[in-house]
Amino acid sequence: MRNKVIKAIFPVAGLGTRFLPATKSIPKEIMSLVDKPLIQYAIDEARAAGIKEFIFVTSRGKGALEDYFDSAPQLEATLRRKGNTELLQTLKQTTMESGEIAYLRQRDALGLGHAVWCARRLIANEPFAVILPDDVIAAEKPCLQQMIEAYAETGGNMVAAMEVPQSDACKYGLLDVKEDLGRLVSVKGMVEKPDPKDAPSNLAVIGRYILTPNILRNLNKKMVGAGGEIQLTDAIATEIEASDNVYGYRFEGTRFDCGSKGGFLKATVAFGLEREDLRDEFSEYLHDLVGAGKAAQ
Ligand code: G1P
Repeated sequence: MRNKVIKAIFPVAGLGTRFLPATKSIPKEIMSLVDKPLIQYAIDEARAAGIKEFIFVTSRGKGALEDYFDSAPQLEATLRRKGNTELLQTLKQTTMESGEIAYLRQRDALGLGHAVWCARRLIANEPFAVILPDDVIAAEKPCLQQMIEAYAETGGNMVAAMEVPQSDACKYGLLDVKEDLGRLVSVKGMVEKPDPKDAPSNLAVIGRYILTPNILRNLNKKMVGAGGEIQLTDAIATEIEASDNVYGYRFEGTRFDCGSKGGFLKATVAFGLEREDLRDEFSEYLHDLVGAGKAAQ
């Protein structure tokens, strides 16, 4: 029987320079859409997909992430005294059982592939997921869960995939499709941030992966790729040559690139409008704003 995927790696070592000065003293992953940090969206999605072990690859200055998942005795005592059960429940979802979460440091910023490789001893010989918290995906069924269900049929390695405009394709890992089966595609090549003329397609890798331990072995080779970094995409591409079992999965849902300011703003608007307690006031405001903009033209 196929091994269940219960471990997930969260690469969170990046400096978040695109969000300076905010990220001078807080990790980017703590930045919030409405009132929920990016990292909490990633954790909720992982839990829904059956993940039980959470591995954070961090770096200097990311201490706030560890505090975030810890219990907060003083805060909890105050809320209890005030009888605020709703907020207590919200806080409960942020804490992790002892031993459920592990933090390890990526000492040198050598790229996403290197960050994933840093977790090799904790993964050992099991399939594992990787979630990039910058990619927030709003979906009825959480994206990783959709992939786990598809993976139950295919096994192998699977990456989330989405068509992107041709002009943006060079910002992503891109798939060279062998066979297009609709939601699922089998992949014959992958290339990280290629020159537009070398792009095999505009089907891009989005930050959700289900991978075999072989990928970690490929990363052992420390192959340097696009941008002078050790790329996860290259390690997966190597696996295609060896075992021919890499799939792309066109997930159902809306992806927000919260690693960019524009994407973060769009996500804030979308998630704000989803909230029952904010919807009326917020949509009225947006409506007036757009109306005023049109009138001024
Ligand atoms: C990373 C991956 C890339 C993928 C992208 C999705 O790039 O290296 O293959 O397409 O995430 O968000 P980054 O955005 O970290 O440069």
